[in-house]
Amino acid sequence: MRPILWALALAPFTLAVKHEDFKTCAQSSFCRRLKGIAKRQAESTSTFTSPYSVSPPTISDDEGRYTFPITSSLYPEIRFELRVDVLAEGNGIVRLRMDEVASSTGLRRYNETARWALVEAEPMLAGAGDSSVRTEKGKTVIRYGPKEAKLELEIQHSPFKITQSREGRAQVVINEKSLFHMEHFRKKKEKVEAVVGEAEQMVLGGDGVDRAWFEEEDDEAFEERFRQWTDSKPKGPEALSVDITFPGVEHIYGLPEHASPLSLPDTVGPHAHYSDPYRLYNVDIFEYLADSPMALYGAIPLLHAHSASHSVGILNLVGSDTFVDVEHTHTGVHTHWMSESGILDLLLLPGPRPSELFKQNAILTGTTALPPQWSTAYHQCRWNYVDETDVMDVQRRFDEVDIPLDVTWLDIEHAEEHRYFDWDAKHFPDPVRMQEAVAAKGRKMVAIIDPHIKKVDSFRIYSDAKDLDILVKKADGSNFEGWCWTGSSVWVDFFNPNSWDWWTRMFSFATWKDSTPSLFIWNDMNEPSVFDGPEISVPRDTIHHGGWENRDVHNINGMLFHNQTTQALIQRESPAQRPFVLSRSFFAGSQRFSAIWTGDNMGTWDHFAGETAMLLSNNIAGMSFSGADIGGFFGNPSPELLVRWYQAGAFMPFMRAHAHLDTKRREPYLYPEPTRGLIRDAVRTRYALLGVWYNAFHDASTQGWPIMRPQYVVFPEDKDGFAVDDQYYVGGEGLLVKPVTREGATTTEVYIADDQPYYDYFTHSLHPAQATPHNLTLSTPLSAYPVLIQGGSILPIRQRIRRSSPLMWQDPYTLIIALSKSGEAEGQLYSDDGTGYGYEGGEYVWRRFSLSLSAKGKGKKGGKGRMLRSERHPDSMEKEKERNGWAEKVGHVGVEQVVVLGLEEEPRDVKGARGERVEWKWEAGAAAGASGKGEEERASRLVLKKPGVGIVGDWQIEIS
Ligand SMILES: *[C@@H]1O[C@H](CO)[C@@H](O)[C@H](O)[C@H]1NC(C)=O
Ligand SMILES: *[C@@H]1O[C@H](CO)[C@@H](O)[C@H](O)[C@H]1NC(C)=O
Ligand SMILES: *[C@@H]1O[C@H](CO)[C@@H](O)[C@H](O)[C@H]1NC(C)=O
Repeated sequence: MRPILWALALAPFTLAVKHEDFKTCAQSSFCRRLKGIAKRQAESTSTFTSPYSVSPPTISDDEGRYTFPITSSLYPEIRFELRVDVLAEGNGIVRLRMDEVASSTGLRRYNETARWALVEAEPMLAGAGDSSVRTEKGKTVIRYGPKEAKLELEIQHSPFKITQSREGRAQVVINEKSLFHMEHFRKKKEKVEAVVGEAEQMVLGGDGVDRAWFEEEDDEAFEERFRQWTDSKPKGPEALSVDITFPGVEHIYGLPEHASPLSLPDTVGPHAHYSDPYRLYNVDIFEYLADSPMALYGAIPLLHAHSASHSVGILNLVGSDTFVDVEHTHTGVHTHWMSESGILDLLLLPGPRPSELFKQNAILTGTTALPPQWSTAYHQCRWNYVDETDVMDVQRRFDEVDIPLDVTWLDIEHAEEHRYFDWDAKHFPDPVRMQEAVAAKGRKMVAIIDPHIKKVDSFRIYSDAKDLDILVKKADGSNFEGWCWTGSSVWVDFFNPNSWDWWTRMFSFATWKDSTPSLFIWNDMNEPSVFDGPEISVPRDTIHHGGWENRDVHNINGMLFHNQTTQALIQRESPAQRPFVLSRSFFAGSQRFSAIWTGDNMGTWDHFAGETAMLLSNNIAGMSFSGADIGGFFGNPSPELLVRWYQAGAFMPFMRAHAHLDTKRREPYLYPEPTRGLIRDAVRTRYALLGVWYNAFHDASTQGWPIMRPQYVVFPEDKDGFAVDDQYYVGGEGLLVKPVTREGATTTEVYIADDQPYYDYFTHSLHPAQATPHNLTLSTPLSAYPVLIQGGSILPIRQRIRRSSPLMWQDPYTLIIALSKSGEAEGQLYSDDGTGYGYEGGEYVWRRFSLSLSAKGKGKKGGKGRMLRSERHPDSMEKEKERNGWAEKVGHVGVEQVVVLGLEEEPRDVKGARGERVEWKWEAGAAAGASGKGEEERASRLVLKKPGVGIVGDWQIEIS
C-alpha cells in the first residue's frame, strides 16, 4: 500500500507505475559501469579477453574444497581467491565462492547471504573420495557427483573460465563472454587511469583493453545521486559482474519476482522484449506494470535452464541490488548478472531434470513449511474492516449466503495511529471478545503488523527498541528515521540477534493482551517501504548489525522480519502451533517461514492474466505458498472479472480477496445472482478440494516440489509446453487448471501434452486420450473454467461444505477415480490435526489409494476385475506411528462414496472390505480406453454408495 493522499490523487485508477521513482540500469552507477563492459565488448571488433586468470596456476585441495588464487592483469597487486566446494548432498551440487582477499583498504565484501538463505550456511562437503582433481595444460578439472553422471568442473586458468559439464557436454559456462569482474576496494583518490600500464600491456596484448576500457570512469562511483537523495557509498565501488551461459537450452525460468512470462524473454540483443535488465531489488512499487522486468517486492536469485535433454539450475546468493540481462542465441542462453556489492557465492544445481532441481534447491534453501490447514482455505481481506461490528457483519453475511470463510483480515486502520499492537479502542473496544466470537465460528483473524514503528516515546515498541539499541542506523550512527503510515518512524534491525527474543516477547499472550490463539499476522511493507526514501525504501547507506550497509543486505531484509514474526507465533503457545504470517517481501529461503502474495496488483484483465506466470515463477523458485489478491488491490473489477478471479483464486496455493480503501466494497455477498452464486461455487470448490491441496502442501514440505507445476516441470521433454505459463498442474495430484483470463471468453484452449484421457472435474465428461500433444477447446461460459482430472488419478474430495474448514474435520470423503487409458489409477490422502507439530513425531495418516486390474479379473471374458486398495503410503513407513492420536481421532471418518470414471462396463459384483456386497449405481458412458478424435462425451460413472471403509487402516474393495 501507498499513502492515502497519493492514492486519492491518482483516482480513478488508470495511471500506471511511477517509473521515475525507480532506478533503471542507466541510473545506477554500478549497473552502468558493468553493462558498459558488455556494451563495449559487443561493439568491439577485436577479440576481447578476460583480464582474470588463475595465477599462479596452483590449487589447494582440502577434501572436497579446492582453492585457487585469482588475479586480474589490470590490477596485478590485488588478490582474489576462488573456492570450489563439492557438496555431500544433492547428487553433485557445487558451490563457487570468490572474494577479494586481504584488501589493503581493510574493507570487506558482504559474505553472509548464505547465512540467511541456506538451511546450513556451510552445507556439508562431500568426502575426500567423492571428488577428484587433475591439472592439465592450462586447466584444472574436478570430477564429482554420482559416477554415472560424469560431472566435471573445468577451470580454465587463463583467461579464467569455468565450465560445468555432464557426460562431456557443457551445461553451465561462467565467464564465457569475459564479463566477469569483481571491483576491488580502492581509495577515492586512486582514479582509474586511462593510460595503459605495463602490466596490462603484458597480458592483454593487442586487443586494446585497458583499465579505462574495462572500468569506464564514473563520477558516481563514490557518491551517487538519485533525484533528491545522495548515497554516500562509504566503501566506494564494489560491484560484481558475472556472465553465465547455458549452452544447449532454449528456455530459462525463474528470477522472481517480475511481472513477466515464466520463460524469461530477452533484455538485450536483436530479440529483446524488454529494454532494461530484470532487476532484483525489493521495493514497494505502486501500480506495477503487467509486463515488465522492473523490480517488485521479492527477489529469488534462482534460475532453471531447460531443454528437452537436460535441466540445470543456479542459485546466486547475492542480496544487493542486482540486474540480470538475458539473451537467447541459437547455441544457448546467456545471462549477465550485475550486482552492487557482495561476494560471488554461486551454487550450481546439476539437475538433470526439474524434479532433481527442486530437491537440490530444497537441500540448500529448505522446503515450504507445512502451513496450518485452515490457511489453505479462503481468506477475506479489505483495507479496512472498520470496526468490530463490520467484522461480525462479514461473518454473518458469509453465513447467510452459504459461502465458506476461514479468515477475516484487518489492515492498518485497526491500530491506533498505526501503532501496531495497539488496537484502535474506538472501533475495536474489545479485541479479545471479537477474536473469540470469530473463533467460535471455527474461524481465524489476521491483523497487520508492519515493520515501521511510530516514533513516539509513549509507544512501548518504540521505546523498547530504542533502549535495546536494535534500530537500523544512519551512516552517522544515529537511528534512521523515515516516513510511513505511522508518520515519522523507525525500523528494527532484524539482523541484530538482540532483537529476536524481544520481538518474540511482543507476541506472547502475556505481553500482547489483546491477542488470542486465533489471531495471526500479516507483515506488509517489509522491503521495507519508506515513503520519503530513495526508491520508496531505506537509503542504501543505512547500517545494519555488523556494520553492513542496507546496500549489502537489502533483498534479505524483509525475510528476516518475516522469520522473526513466524518464530514469535511458534513460540507463543505450548505445545507450539503452526504459524501463519503473510509477507510481501521475500528472498531465497522465505518458504521456510510462511506465505507471500504478489502485492498491490490492479483489478484489470491484464494484471489478472499475468498473475499465473508470476505465481508459477515463485513456485519453481521454492516459494510455493503464494497467491494474488483476488479482484485486484486497486480498482473496481467488473462482476465478470471478479468471478473469473475467484475461479482462478480457488486454485492458487494462497487464496485471499483483498481491496484498496478507495474501492467499492466487493465482498461476495454484496452481489446479486448470478455473480454471487458463481463466486460461491468457486469458493466451495476450494473447500471440496482442501484435502488435495493439503496433499500438495505436504509434498512441497517434504520434497521441495512446487505446488503449482508448469508444463516444463510435468513434461520436461515436451518442447511445445516449454513456454506455456497460463495453465498448470496442482502438485502431483493430477489436476490440470487453466484460469480463464480473457474478457468475454466463451471457449478456452487447454494444452494436453500426454496421451492420457482427461476428465472435466465438474461435469465428468471425458476427453479421450490422443497419441500426440494437442489442444482441447473447452466451452467456458462464465460458469465454467477448465479444471481437468488427468486419467490415472484418484482425488479425495469432500462434498459437504461447512462455513469454515476446521468444522469439516470429521466429514466423510468421496474418492473420485479417473481411470487411465489402461484402466488404472492412484492417489493419496495425507491428513493430520492441521495445526500442531504432532505430525513431526508420526501423528498423521497418510494413505495411498490405488485401483488396479486384479490378476483374477484379467483373464475373464467381458469386463475386467479390479481391486481398489487403501494402504499406508510407501514413503510413510518410517515415521507414521502404527497407532497415533490423529489416527484414533479420525478412525471413524468414512469414505461415503467412490466414483469411478471411465470403466468399460457395469460390474457384476462389488465386494466391500469384509466381503459384503456394496450397493452401486451405474451410468453408462465413454470408457477411459476409448480412442477418440477429441470428441467430448460423458464418462461412464460407477458410484459406490457407502462402501463401508474409512481413511484409516488398510482395506480393499473388489470390483468384478
Ligand atoms: C567472511 O569474511 C571474513 C573475512 O574474510 C571471514 O573471517 C569470515 O569467515 C567470512 N564468512 C563467511 C561466512 O564466509
Ligand atoms: C530465523 O530466526 C531464528 C531465531 O529466531 C534464527 O536462528 C535464524 O537464523 C533466522 N533465520 C533467518 C533467515 O532469519
Ligand atoms: C495449441 O494452441 C496454442 C495457442 O493457440 C498454439 O500455439 C499451439 O501450437 C497449439 N498446439 C497444438 C499441439 O496444436
